[in-house]
Amino acid sequence: MIRPAALLLILFSIIGAARADPSAPPVPIDSLIAGIDRVTVTVQDPVYKTAKRFEGYPLATLLRKAWPEVDAWAAEGAELVLTAVDGYAPSMDLARALSGNGVVATRDLDRAPEDPWEPFAKGASKITPAPYYLVWTDVASDDPHYRWPYKLAQLSVTSFGQRYGGAAPPPASGERAQRGFRLFVQNCMPCHAVNQIGGHTGPELNVPKNVTEYWAQHHLRAFIAAPESYRLRSKMPSFGHLPETDRNAILSYLGAMKKRKVCGDAPCR
Ligand code: HEC
Repeated sequence: MIRPAALLLILFSIIGAARADPSAPPVPIDSLIAGIDRVTVTVQDPVYKTAKRFEGYPLATLLRKAWPEVDAWAAEGAELVLTAVDGYAPSMDLARALSGNGVVATRDLDRAPEDPWEPFAKGASKITPAPYYLVWTDVASDDPHYRWPYKLAQLSVTSFGQRYGGAAPPPASGERAQRGFRLFVQNCMPCHAVNQIGGHTGPELNVPKNVTEYWAQHHLRAFIAAPESYRLRSKMPSFGHLPETDRNAILSYLGAMKKRKVCGDAPCR
Protein backbone atom coordinates (compact mmCIF):
# COMPACT_ATOMS: atom_id res chain seq x y z
CA MET A 1 0.00 0.00 0.00
CA ILE A 2 1.50 3.38 -1.05
CA ARG A 3 1.05 6.19 1.48
CA PRO A 4 -0.53 9.47 0.27
CA ALA A 5 2.71 11.37 0.87
CA ALA A 6 4.60 8.95 -1.37
CA LEU A 7 1.89 9.26 -4.01
CA LEU A 8 2.21 13.03 -3.92
CA LEU A 9 5.97 12.72 -4.32
CA ILE A 10 5.54 10.49 -7.37
CA LEU A 11 3.00 12.90 -8.82
CA PHE A 12 5.30 15.88 -8.31
CA SER A 13 8.21 14.13 -9.92
CA ILE A 14 6.07 13.27 -12.96
CA ILE A 15 4.94 16.91 -13.25
CA GLY A 16 8.53 18.03 -12.76
CA ALA A 17 9.75 15.79 -15.55
CA ALA A 18 7.03 16.94 -17.94
CA ARG A 19 7.75 20.64 -17.41
CA ALA A 20 10.22 22.12 -19.91
CA ASP A 21 13.40 22.02 -17.88
CA PRO A 22 16.21 23.51 -19.91
CA SER A 23 18.90 21.20 -18.73
CA ALA A 24 19.83 18.56 -21.23
CA PRO A 25 22.87 16.29 -21.04
CA PRO A 26 25.33 16.41 -23.92
CA VAL A 27 24.30 14.73 -27.17
CA PRO A 28 27.11 13.66 -29.55
CA ILE A 29 26.69 15.27 -32.97
CA ASP A 30 27.61 11.86 -34.48
CA SER A 31 24.29 10.51 -33.18
CA LEU A 32 22.20 13.29 -34.80
CA ILE A 33 23.30 13.53 -38.42
CA ALA A 34 21.74 10.37 -39.89
CA GLY A 35 19.02 11.24 -42.41
CA ILE A 36 19.59 15.01 -42.29
CA ASP A 37 20.16 16.81 -45.61
CA ARG A 38 23.52 18.49 -46.02
CA VAL A 39 23.77 22.13 -47.11
CA THR A 40 26.52 24.19 -48.73
CA VAL A 41 27.51 27.60 -47.30
CA THR A 42 30.01 30.39 -47.91
CA VAL A 43 31.13 32.22 -44.76
CA GLN A 44 33.53 34.96 -43.72
CA ASP A 45 35.70 32.69 -41.60
CA PRO A 46 37.32 34.03 -38.38
CA VAL A 47 39.71 31.07 -38.00
CA TYR A 48 41.08 31.00 -41.57
CA LYS A 49 40.50 34.77 -41.90
CA THR A 50 39.12 34.51 -45.42
CA ALA A 51 35.91 33.52 -47.24
CA LYS A 52 35.41 29.74 -47.02
CA ARG A 53 32.98 27.24 -48.51
CA PHE A 54 31.80 24.36 -46.32
CA GLU A 55 29.36 21.49 -46.44
CA GLY A 56 27.48 20.50 -43.30
CA TYR A 57 24.23 20.17 -41.39
CA PRO A 58 21.94 23.05 -40.34
CA LEU A 59 22.46 23.59 -36.59
CA ALA A 60 18.76 24.37 -35.92
CA THR A 61 17.71 21.07 -37.52
CA LEU A 62 20.17 19.12 -35.33
CA LEU A 63 18.97 20.94 -32.19
CA ARG A 64 15.28 20.23 -32.91
CA LYS A 65 16.11 16.60 -33.60
CA ALA A 66 18.07 16.31 -30.33
CA TRP A 67 15.34 17.92 -28.20
CA PRO A 68 11.80 18.42 -29.53
CA GLU A 69 11.17 20.90 -26.67
CA VAL A 70 14.18 23.06 -27.59
CA ASP A 71 12.12 26.04 -28.81
CA ALA A 72 10.33 26.25 -25.44
CA TRP A 73 13.72 26.24 -23.67
CA ALA A 74 14.95 29.02 -25.97
CA ALA A 75 11.93 31.13 -25.04
CA GLU A 76 12.94 30.72 -21.37
CA GLY A 77 16.38 32.16 -22.11
CA ALA A 78 18.37 28.90 -22.09
CA GLU A 79 21.97 28.62 -23.25
CA LEU A 80 23.42 26.30 -25.88
CA VAL A 81 26.72 24.76 -24.78
CA LEU A 82 29.09 23.67 -27.56
CA THR A 83 31.61 21.13 -26.31
CA ALA A 84 34.78 20.45 -28.27
CA VAL A 85 36.82 17.25 -28.28
CA ASP A 86 39.31 18.77 -25.79
CA GLY A 87 36.56 19.91 -23.38
CA TYR A 88 36.59 23.59 -24.41
CA ALA A 89 32.93 24.53 -24.02
CA PRO A 90 31.79 28.00 -25.07
CA SER A 91 28.09 28.80 -24.91
CA MET A 92 25.68 31.15 -26.64
CA ASP A 93 22.04 32.17 -26.41
CA LEU A 94 19.93 29.22 -27.57
CA ALA A 95 17.27 31.41 -29.23
CA ARG A 96 19.98 33.09 -31.30
CA ALA A 97 21.39 29.70 -32.27
CA LEU A 98 17.97 28.51 -33.43
CA SER A 99 17.11 31.61 -35.45
CA GLY A 100 20.58 32.18 -36.94
CA ASN A 101 22.00 30.47 -39.97
CA GLY A 102 24.44 28.13 -38.24
CA VAL A 103 25.91 25.12 -40.02
CA VAL A 104 27.80 22.27 -38.40
CA ALA A 105 30.42 21.85 -41.11
CA THR A 106 31.82 18.42 -41.96
CA ARG A 107 34.12 19.39 -44.83
CA ASP A 108 35.85 22.23 -46.61
CA LEU A 109 34.50 22.28 -50.18
CA ASP A 110 37.78 23.50 -51.61
CA ARG A 111 39.52 20.31 -50.44
CA ALA A 112 39.50 16.76 -51.78
CA PRO A 113 36.82 14.57 -50.09
CA GLU A 114 39.46 12.16 -48.79
CA ASP A 115 41.36 15.01 -47.08
CA PRO A 116 38.51 17.38 -46.22
CA TRP A 117 40.13 19.98 -43.93
CA GLU A 118 42.79 22.61 -44.38
CA PRO A 119 45.17 22.58 -41.39
CA PHE A 120 45.73 25.85 -39.51
CA ALA A 121 48.31 26.92 -36.95
CA LYS A 122 47.39 26.79 -33.28
CA GLY A 123 50.34 27.73 -31.11
CA ALA A 124 53.28 25.67 -32.28
CA SER A 125 51.20 22.92 -33.90
CA LYS A 126 48.94 22.52 -36.92
CA ILE A 127 45.42 21.27 -36.36
CA THR A 128 42.20 20.85 -38.36
CA PRO A 129 38.59 21.58 -37.30
CA ALA A 130 37.57 17.88 -37.50
CA PRO A 131 35.25 16.28 -36.58
CA TYR A 132 32.84 19.27 -36.74
CA TYR A 133 33.14 23.02 -37.06
CA LEU A 134 30.30 25.44 -36.32
CA VAL A 135 30.11 28.27 -38.89
CA TRP A 136 27.59 31.08 -39.48
CA THR A 137 26.45 32.81 -42.66
CA ASP A 138 25.43 36.49 -42.54
CA VAL A 139 27.30 37.03 -39.25
CA ALA A 140 30.36 39.27 -38.88
CA SER A 141 33.32 37.12 -37.87
CA ASP A 142 33.93 39.31 -34.79
CA ASP A 143 30.31 39.41 -33.55
CA PRO A 144 30.74 38.29 -29.91
CA HIS A 145 27.22 36.82 -29.70
CA TYR A 146 28.09 33.93 -32.02
CA ARG A 147 30.54 31.09 -31.37
CA TRP A 148 32.64 29.34 -34.00
CA PRO A 149 34.02 26.31 -32.11
CA TYR A 150 36.15 23.88 -34.11
CA LYS A 151 36.85 20.27 -33.09
CA LEU A 152 33.20 20.36 -32.00
CA ALA A 153 31.79 17.05 -30.72
CA GLN A 154 28.71 17.56 -28.53
CA LEU A 155 25.71 19.82 -28.00
CA SER A 156 23.98 20.44 -24.68
CA VAL A 157 21.55 22.94 -23.18
CA THR A 158 21.68 24.53 -19.77
CA SER A 159 19.34 26.94 -18.03
CA PHE A 160 20.25 30.58 -17.78
CA GLY A 161 20.45 30.24 -13.97
CA GLN A 162 22.84 27.31 -14.04
CA ARG A 163 25.13 29.08 -16.46
CA TYR A 164 25.05 32.62 -15.05
CA GLY A 165 23.66 32.25 -11.49
CA GLY A 166 27.07 33.06 -9.99
CA ALA A 167 26.99 36.49 -11.62
CA ALA A 168 23.38 37.32 -10.64
CA PRO A 169 22.80 40.44 -8.54
CA PRO A 170 21.80 39.97 -4.87
CA PRO A 171 18.02 39.32 -4.59
CA ALA A 172 17.38 42.63 -2.78
CA SER A 173 18.95 44.75 -5.51
CA GLY A 174 15.74 45.62 -7.32
CA GLU A 175 14.09 45.16 -10.69
CA ARG A 176 16.34 47.56 -12.61
CA ALA A 177 19.52 45.72 -11.60
CA GLN A 178 17.89 42.39 -12.49
CA ARG A 179 16.99 43.72 -15.93
CA GLY A 180 20.51 45.11 -16.24
CA PHE A 181 21.88 41.65 -15.48
CA ARG A 182 20.04 40.17 -18.50
CA LEU A 183 21.25 43.02 -20.68
CA PHE A 184 24.80 42.60 -19.40
CA VAL A 185 24.77 38.87 -20.20
CA GLN A 186 23.53 39.61 -23.71
CA ASN A 187 25.74 42.56 -24.58
CA CYS A 188 28.80 42.49 -22.35
CA MET A 189 29.44 38.98 -21.08
CA PRO A 190 30.80 37.60 -24.35
CA CYS A 191 33.85 39.77 -23.52
CA HIS A 192 33.68 40.56 -19.78
CA ALA A 193 33.52 38.37 -16.69
CA VAL A 194 31.72 39.19 -13.44
CA ASN A 195 32.63 36.93 -10.53
CA GLN A 196 34.79 35.10 -13.09
CA ILE A 197 31.78 34.10 -15.19
CA GLY A 198 31.99 35.30 -18.80
CA GLY A 199 34.52 36.10 -21.51
CA HIS A 200 38.12 37.25 -21.27
CA THR A 201 38.50 39.67 -24.19
CA GLY A 202 37.88 42.58 -21.83
CA PRO A 203 38.70 42.90 -18.11
CA GLU A 204 36.80 41.27 -15.23
CA LEU A 205 34.44 43.93 -13.85
CA ASN A 206 33.68 42.80 -10.28
CA VAL A 207 36.53 41.07 -8.47
CA PRO A 208 38.54 41.84 -6.57
CA LYS A 209 37.43 45.45 -7.21
CA ASN A 210 34.06 46.32 -8.67
CA VAL A 211 34.43 48.71 -11.60
CA THR A 212 32.08 51.25 -9.91
CA GLU A 213 34.51 51.38 -6.97
CA TYR A 214 37.25 52.96 -9.10
CA TRP A 215 35.40 54.60 -12.05
CA ALA A 216 33.17 57.64 -11.45
CA GLN A 217 29.60 56.98 -12.62
CA HIS A 218 29.59 59.73 -15.24
CA HIS A 219 32.81 58.42 -16.82
CA LEU A 220 31.52 54.89 -16.82
CA ARG A 221 28.31 56.02 -18.49
CA ALA A 222 30.21 57.98 -21.16
CA PHE A 223 32.77 55.20 -21.73
CA ILE A 224 30.12 52.56 -22.39
CA ALA A 225 28.38 54.83 -24.90
CA ALA A 226 31.64 55.68 -26.70
CA PRO A 227 34.82 53.80 -25.66
CA GLU A 228 36.84 55.52 -28.41
CA SER A 229 36.24 58.88 -26.74
CA TYR A 230 38.42 57.55 -23.88
CA ARG A 231 40.82 55.16 -25.55
CA LEU A 232 42.05 55.47 -29.10
CA ARG A 233 41.51 52.20 -30.99
CA SER A 234 39.64 50.71 -28.03
CA LYS A 235 38.81 47.04 -28.62
CA MET A 236 35.46 47.59 -27.00
CA PRO A 237 32.57 48.32 -29.39
CA SER A 238 30.38 51.35 -28.70
CA PHE A 239 27.04 50.78 -26.96
CA GLY A 240 25.65 54.19 -27.87
CA HIS A 241 22.95 52.37 -29.87
CA LEU A 242 21.39 50.89 -26.70
CA PRO A 243 18.54 52.96 -25.25
CA GLU A 244 19.74 55.07 -22.33
CA THR A 245 17.40 53.19 -19.97
CA ASP A 246 19.19 49.95 -20.91
CA ARG A 247 22.63 51.45 -20.28
CA ASN A 248 21.41 52.77 -16.93
CA ALA A 249 20.08 49.32 -16.04
CA ILE A 250 23.49 47.82 -16.85
CA LEU A 251 25.12 50.40 -14.59
CA SER A 252 22.75 49.57 -11.76
CA TYR A 253 23.58 45.89 -12.22
CA LEU A 254 27.32 46.61 -12.05
CA GLY A 255 26.80 48.77 -8.94
CA ALA A 256 24.73 46.07 -7.25
CA MET A 257 27.49 43.50 -7.73
CA LYS A 258 29.70 45.37 -5.21
CA LYS A 259 27.68 43.51 -2.57
CA ARG A 260 28.17 40.12 -4.16
CA LYS A 261 31.77 39.25 -4.92
CA VAL A 262 32.82 35.69 -5.61
CA CYS A 263 36.51 35.21 -6.18
CA GLY A 264 36.65 31.42 -6.22
CA ASP A 265 39.98 30.27 -4.84
CA ALA A 266 41.45 33.77 -4.72
CA PRO A 267 40.45 35.82 -1.66
CA CYS A 268 38.09 38.73 -2.40
CA ARG A 269 39.69 41.74 -0.80
C1 HEC B 1 33.84 42.78 -28.06
C2 HEC B 1 34.24 42.78 -26.68
C3 HEC B 1 33.60 43.71 -25.69
C4 HEC B 1 32.26 43.88 -25.42
C5 HEC B 1 31.09 43.20 -26.11
C6 HEC B 1 32.18 44.79 -24.30
N1 HEC B 1 33.42 45.18 -23.92
FE1 HEC B 1 33.89 46.43 -22.37
N2 HEC B 1 35.86 46.27 -22.85
C7 HEC B 1 36.39 45.46 -23.82
C8 HEC B 1 37.83 45.62 -23.84
C9 HEC B 1 38.79 44.89 -24.78
C10 HEC B 1 38.14 46.52 -22.84
C11 HEC B 1 39.55 46.99 -22.45
C12 HEC B 1 39.81 48.40 -22.70
C13 HEC B 1 39.72 48.89 -24.12
O1 HEC B 1 40.14 48.20 -25.09
O2 HEC B 1 39.26 50.03 -24.25
C14 HEC B 1 36.89 46.91 -22.22
C15 HEC B 1 36.78 47.81 -21.16
C16 HEC B 1 35.62 48.05 -20.45
C17 HEC B 1 35.53 48.85 -19.26
C18 HEC B 1 36.67 49.54 -18.56
C19 HEC B 1 37.21 48.63 -17.49
C20 HEC B 1 38.49 49.12 -16.90
O3 HEC B 1 38.65 48.97 -15.71
O4 HEC B 1 39.33 49.63 -17.65
C21 HEC B 1 34.22 48.85 -18.86
C22 HEC B 1 33.62 49.52 -17.65
C23 HEC B 1 33.49 48.05 -19.83
N3 HEC B 1 34.38 47.59 -20.77
C24 HEC B 1 32.14 47.80 -19.78
C25 HEC B 1 31.43 47.12 -20.74
C26 HEC B 1 30.00 46.98 -20.75
C27 HEC B 1 29.06 47.52 -19.68
C28 HEC B 1 29.68 46.27 -21.88
C29 HEC B 1 28.31 45.90 -22.38
C30 HEC B 1 27.35 46.95 -22.57
C31 HEC B 1 30.92 45.95 -22.56
N4 HEC B 1 31.94 46.49 -21.85
C32 HEC B 1 31.00 45.19 -23.73
C33 HEC B 1 35.69 44.63 -24.67
C34 HEC B 1 34.31 44.54 -24.74
